[in-house]
Amino acid sequence: MYPFRNAVTVSHMMMEPYARQAHVLVDMTCGNGHDTAFLARLMPDDAVLYAFDIQPCAIDHTQQRLQQEGLDGKHVVCTCGSHDELLARIQENVDLMVFNLGYLPSGDHKIHTNCEITLKAMKIGLNKIAINGIIMIAAYPGTEAGAREEQALRSYLQTIPQQDFHISSWQPVNEVHCPPVLYIVQKRGKRHHEEIPLH
Ligand SMILES: C[S@@+](CC[C@H](N)C(=O)[O-])C[C@H]1O[C@@H](n2cnc3c(N)ncnc32)[C@H](O)[C@@H]1O
Repeated sequence: MYPFRNAVTVSHMMMEPYARQAHVLVDMTCGNGHDTAFLARLMPDDAVLYAFDIQPCAIDHTQQRLQQEGLDGKHVVCTCGSHDELLARIQENVDLMVFNLGYLPSGDHKIHTNCEITLKAMKIGLNKIAINGIIMIAAYPGTEAGAREEQALRSYLQTIPQQDFHISSWQPVNEVHCPPVLYIVQKRGKRHHEEIPLH
């Protein structure tokens, strides 16, 4: 049973049925590998999961976690670099994409996802996501950088036409601190989608 504890636990609950059917998955910020391992465990044996992070230590942690959890037989491609550039190189449509923003809890808290890069990656993601595919974003408004990023993301997502994407959010309402917010984006099924402008 998944607890309604925070944006990450709720994102896992919502992603589970989609991960079980996905062919191409992307973890945009693999960090300590918790989300990558969660997706690798559920995805079909013939699926491919790309896992990105700008920190080499995050790539190491993710690979170690996959090995420790016996998931090294799954097709997971871990790459160190910025997610906007790495996502642009993927040729296939993506069924499931996850952004867990912020900083690596066990690492250097100054290495935070960057507001402008996050928006750029999101625009590329909106163009790459498959019909009925899902983009999950956990955003952390509890720090100055995180609040700016979460606000910019919300403002941008509010401009996306509702005939193209279902976009919603989830957040606890009784927490004393500033809890993470989950955004859920799903591409709607229709014949023609306008390309999302990258600028
Ligand atoms: C909250 S952590 C991710 C946690 C991770 N999903 C997990 O399950 O352990 C955020 C991560 O984003 C990474 N990051 C920051 N900017 C990035 C960028 N431009 N491209 C890829 N990763 C980035 C950080 O290095 C950090 O590891």
